[in-house]
Amino acid sequence: MDKCLAEYPSILWSVTLDPYHSNKTDKISAVKCNPDPKLLRLLADMDVNFDCASLAEIEQVLEMGVDPSRIIFAHPCKARSALLIAAQRDVRLTTFDNSDELDKIHEISPELELLLRIYAQDHTAKVALGEKFGAPVEIARTLLKKARRLELKVVGKVGSGASNPNAFVTAVQHAKCVFDYGKSLEFDMQILDVGGGFEDNNFEPMAHVLRKAISREFTSPPKLIAEPGRFYASGFYTMVCQVVARRIQKGITTKLPDMLYLNDGLYGSFSMKWSEGKTFVPTLIELPEISAPATRDWKRHRYSIWGPTCDSMDCISKEVVMNQEIMIGDWLKFQDMGGKRY
Ligand SMILES: Cc1ncc(COP(=O)(O)O)c(C=O)c1O
Repeated sequence: MDKCLAEYPSILWSVTLDPYHSNKTDKISAVKCNPDPKLLRLLADMDVNFDCASLAEIEQVLEMGVDPSRIIFAHPCKARSALLIAAQRDVRLTTFDNSDELDKIHEISPELELLLRIYAQDHTAKVALGEKFGAPVEIARTLLKKARRLELKVVGKVGSGASNPNAFVTAVQHAKCVFDYGKSLEFDMQILDVGGGFEDNNFEPMAHVLRKAISREFTSPPKLIAEPGRFYASGFYTMVCQVVARRIQKGITTKLPDMLYLNDGLYGSFSMKWSEGKTFVPTLIELPEISAPATRDWKRHRYSIWGPTCDSMDCISKEVVMNQEIMIGDWLKFQDMGGKRY
């Protein structure tokens, strides 16, 4: 554990995202990006609530003694069995984005409170979640009308893991339309959930744009929820892998970097390369026994880094420059490995 989560005090959300400082901001973390019990315990103790995307995540959080009122079942397309069990466990809040889901909820757990997830387009997002979830704002009206007819309780809307601040502006404008329409149908619309998508390197600009957009669109403050996943989790873990093999490209005329093979790869802890195109640059852990061996060349070296499988797709980094030669048995350190996006 390299960076302590307490560096990101959960109060940050209230102060930075809530333009009204209205004390109506809930801190929620998405469990899916890292369900490690130590991280979840720390979050729970910091009064962070939980966005659970599956029944397994709900069970895990409940087993920690977290009250079900602190959980959102934030998956808009749930299995019937999951809906039934979540309701039996007293989870109160879930999301929807389509008409069939409303029918299911009406039949199985009509007492649930609902957040309408609307589509937020962000062509720059590493994972285009809008392709899978979210009702276009034009459809939102039809869905709200149906929810009213079925006497379900819609209490707000959720936006999505956009990573482009402008996508948030449009999403907040759409949210306002949904709120206005919901209120015209006499829904008690109180919750604006801006979803996830925050990262260390984009939090400040996103929060700035979001605050302005919210205060422009909403004259009276809704309860504001954000569901960051990787923002909380990624700095929580540093990964250490061992070099198990090496290929020196000597005698090959092309200037290919030398190759390192590690004991973990894209089919394990480096899957973020597939899922979100993450790049990985390690550093050598300079253990006392390797700090000054005469055999090591301490000049800069280029390497490609590979996982342990026989699959040639299992390439962690096509090319990295290390400050020294890397040898079999060395340990390499990869930072910010605690958050995945699924
Ligand atoms: C509804 C919702 N909330 C939160 C998250 C967490 O996203 P991130 O890890 O990008 O913050 C996601 C990502 O899939 C999501 O779909």
